[in-house]
Parts: sequence; structure tokens; C-alpha cells
Amino acid sequence: MHAPEVLISEDDIQKRVTELAQKISADYSDTGDLVMVGVLKGSFIFLADLSRNLSIPRTIEFIAVSSYGDSSAPSGAVRLVMDVRGNIEGKDVLIVEDIVDTGHTLKYLIGIMKSHRPASVKTAVLVRKADSAKVDVTIDYLGFDIGNEWVVGYGLDFAEQNRTLPYIGIIDPTDR
Ligand code: IMP
Repeated sequence: MHAPEVLISEDDIQKRVTELAQKISADYSDTGDLVMVGVLKGSFIFLADLSRNLSIPRTIEFIAVSSYGDSSAPSGAVRLVMDVRGNIEGKDVLIVEDIVDTGHTLKYLIGIMKSHRPASVKTAVLVRKADSAKVDVTIDYLGFDIGNEWVVGYGLDFAEQNRTLPYIGIIDPTDR
């Protein structure tokens, strides 16, 4: 397999994550009860960098959903594999997701979080694919808009590979 072609450089990611963290810190400065909910596995690096750049108190939770498996073709089905462990009732939830493609996963997760009766639910997404217009879902904090290519790195994988690249790169899923 060829090395992924750089789409978003490490520098550009770090700059954007810092900007998003500043905006989130300002927006939540008066609330004091922010819970960042990372969606496993893809958001783990974005969540780590974003949370470390905040200047406000926050706690961290994780949830896990079923993914497309080892294929790059969406199945459409979303299933909750692991819910939050802590009590998030009355808190300000920020869902942290790596990528939105059709938007089905994020829409489903917003519903799951709302069922816990938090004070608010917002979303932070690192990259949005061009297809996301298909589902009506609000992204409150967005890193980058991209095309419909399959991307890897900075938490994102293809068949569990390339998650720890410091940049976001494009791969051809048929080139194996
Ligand atoms: P959606 O439900 O169609 O928005 O799909 C979102 C999920 O698909 C993400 O949480 C990822 O797990 C996966 N996904 C979609 N596109 C990519 C990609 O280009 N690289 C890696 N994972 C992706």
C-alpha cells in the first residue's frame, strides 16, 4: 500500500484545534459543567488535543458505536456498543467526533445523549465529508470540510491502519 497523500498537514490540524479550543473555552466559560464525550475509536487523538487546549474545567467520557467494520462502504446501521459511565444529567455535553460522512452516526449519538437529560448537547467534529448534507445534523464546532475521499490519520483509520499518523491523508481503499 502507498503512503497516504497529505490532505491536511499536522501544522494546519494543530492550528485549527487550538482555534476550536479557544472558541469552546469562551462559549462554555460561564457553565462550569462541561463533559466532553469522545466517540471511540476515531476521536481519541482529536479529543486529547482539544481537551488539553481548553482553559475551562471539563470532564471526559467515552462512547462507542459500531462502525463500518473493515470496509469503507457505509452499511447505514448504527449501534451503541458502549454508553457513558458517568452521570451526565444536567451537564453540558459536547460530543467529540472524528468525521461526519452521511451524518447518521452523529444524529443517532445526539439522540442517545439527549436521553440522559443533559442541560445541553453540542457537537465538535474534526472533518466533514461533502456527503453530510444528506442528514440534517448540526455541527457546532467544525475543523475542516473535505471531499468524499477516504481519509486516515489523526485517529481515523482504514481497516484499523494509519490511526496514529500526525496528518490527515487520503488513501485509495482498493490499493492494498
Ligand atoms: P456517517 O454515519 O456516515 O456520518 O459515518 C461516520 C463514521 O464513518 C465515522 O465515525 C467513521 O467511523 C466512519 N468514516 C466515514 N468516512 C471515513 C473516512 O474517510 N475515514 C475513516 N472513517 C470514516
